[in-house]
Amino acid sequence: GAPVTADISKIEPGQKVDYAWRGLPVFVVRRTPAQLAVLPTLAPRLVDPNSEVDQQPSYIKGPDRSIKPEWLVVIGICTHLGCVPEFFPQIKPEPFDPNWKGGFFCPCHKSRYDLSGRVFSGVPAPKNLQVPPYHFVDDTHIQIG
Ligand code: FES
Repeated sequence: GAPVTADISKIEPGQKVDYAWRGLPVFVVRRTPAQLAVLPTLAPRLVDPNSEVDQQPSYIKGPDRSIKPEWLVVIGICTHLGCVPEFFPQIKPEPFDPNWKGGFFCPCHKSRYDLSGRVFSGVPAPKNLQVPPYHFVDDTHIQIG
């Protein structure tokens, strides 16, 4: 499939916008400093906090799983059976998890991911959301693919 160029200039802090690439939804989230600060604290509750399973390009590292920490780019397909997770920037979808700090929630079988797309322990999804290959064309455009 051809690469897709996403114009991210209108995305507000804390907002998610969806793009289509190879027939897949790609979520782009502009994370706030407060949202980023939570990510390193979640490791004990995650299946694969360092994303050691191959779900991202080699240049994606760390708890923010990004090139620029403010910007998350992930494929919006649950790694359980392929539903599209919903975005919860800070809502707590209790009673599933009273400690919820925001992220993605799959309505099909209640898998939860953090705002880096890292899967929580104790849910059906086995892996983190996949990060597609991408790069910044300039400050306001990302090329996916
Ligand atoms: Fe997402 Fe099953 S498809 S939890």
